[in-house]
This record gives sequence, C-alpha cells and structure tokens, in this order.
Amino acid sequence: MTIVSIWCRHKGDNIIGAGVGLPWKIPSDTRRFRNLTEGQIMVMGGRTYGGMPQKVLTGRKVIVLDNSGKTEILDKDNHIVVDNVEKLKDYPEDLYISGGATIYAIFFTTPSIMPDIVVDCVYSGPINEGATDLIDVNRSVAVLEQKYFALPQTFELDGVVTTVWLKKGDFVEQSTVKKIMQYLETEGK
Ligand SMILES: NC(=O)c1ccc[n+]([C@@H]2O[C@H](COP(=O)([O-])OP(=O)(O)OC[C@H]3O[C@@H](n4cnc5c(N)ncnc54)[C@H](OP(=O)(O)O)[C@@H]3O)[C@@H](O)[C@H]2O)c1
Repeated sequence: MTIVSIWCRHKGDNIIGAGVGLPWKIPSDTRRFRNLTEGQIMVMGGRTYGGMPQKVLTGRKVIVLDNSGKTEILDKDNHIVVDNVEKLKDYPEDLYISGGATIYAIFFTTPSIMPDIVVDCVYSGPINEGATDLIDVNRSVAVLEQKYFALPQTFELDGVVTTVWLKKGDFVEQSTVKKIMQYLETEGK
C-alpha cells in the first residue's frame, strides 16, 4: 500500500479551511484534487466529508473517519465509515489522505500510517474576506519539513505552487510518484 496525502495550504500560515469549507475558490486546484484522486480511495474526516459538495463525492470511493457515528453516508455503495484509524494499517489498497486538519495530523504523527508521498499545494493569494473559524495544518507541516524531502521540480498554476515530497529513508512506490509528476507536468497546458 502507498499512502498519498494531498492538501492546499495557504502560504505562511498553513491555513486549509474556514469552518467546514475552503477560504478560497481556485477551480484549477479543485480540478487537480479531483484528477489526482480519481479512481483512488480517499480518506477524510467527518467534517470534511460533510462540507464537500455531494457531486464531488458521489460515485467515488471514500473512507470517512468518524468516531462519533454522526456521519450521514451519501453513497452507500462507495462510501464507508471507519471509527478507528488503526484499522487502515496494512490496508490492501493505496489510500489518498484528503483532510481535514485532524485527519492529516493523525496520519503525519502515527508511524505505521505516515504518508509515503505528499502532494503539497501552497497558495499565495488572498483568503476570503471575513473568513472565520480558520483551520491550519501547522502540526503536519512541521513533520513534513523534518521527515520528508522535496523533489526539486515544482509546478505553478493560478497562484498555487505544488511540490511533491517523499518520506525520508523509506521505499516509495516509484510508479505512483511518476504518475503524480506526469499529471502535474501537463496540467494547465
Ligand atoms: N485545503 C485543503 O486541502 C483541505 C482539504 C480537506 C479539508 N479541508 C478543510 O479542513 C477543515 C476540516 O478539518 P477538521 O480538522 O475540522 O475536520 P476533519 O479532519 O475533516 O474531521 C475530523 C473528524 O475525524 C474524526 N476523528 C478524529 N479522530 C479520529 C480517530 N482517531 N479515528 C477516527 N475518526 C477520528 C472526528 O470525529 P469526532 O468529531 O466524532 O471525534 C471528526 O469527524 C474544513 O475547513 C475543510 O474545508 C481543507
């Protein structure tokens, strides 16, 4: 199993969300997220799942992490709820960690499920005026900077610079890295 983590964070403060939504609207970033996770199993927290437009999730495989049992499942054929992240250890398929901050922090700080690959999108534009309840990934970024190395090539589109990071000292599935890099090389062209 390869674990890939993908996020878009704001430059400087590492903000990723406001309430249950995003504090910006960047169609090319939404497209990148959708295309890189296409056909993959996404893992997300109950808050992120509840805040995402239904059309983004319907027909896609999603594992929702929720230990309160409050999550209402939108697509019973493709979405499942898992109450304990430990159950994803040694999962037979690749997992794409899709947020939010709580879920990223759990994966980045649990050695048995730390992401192998991180698609790190950093947005330098403005955050929506009046956005409140801002949520950041400072904890996960600290681990990223310490335990991962960045591939030298970066990709810029619509104010978002994307860097791919690999976990230091571990075997990382090269075909997955290649597929991600190939997508990033061609997007927006
Ligand atoms: N910019 C981006 O790339 C991006 C991507 C995704 C999300 N976001 C943003 O991130 C924000 C949401 O982040 P968040 O941290 O508030 O929520 P979250 O990570 O989406 O969800 C937290 C969920 O995890 C559950 N949970 C916590 N620990 C668990 C465990 N050990 N096992 C199983 N489940 C567990 C919680 O359940 P209980 O509440 O029942 O404990 C809760 O439902 C939103 O603003 C969203 O828009 C941004």
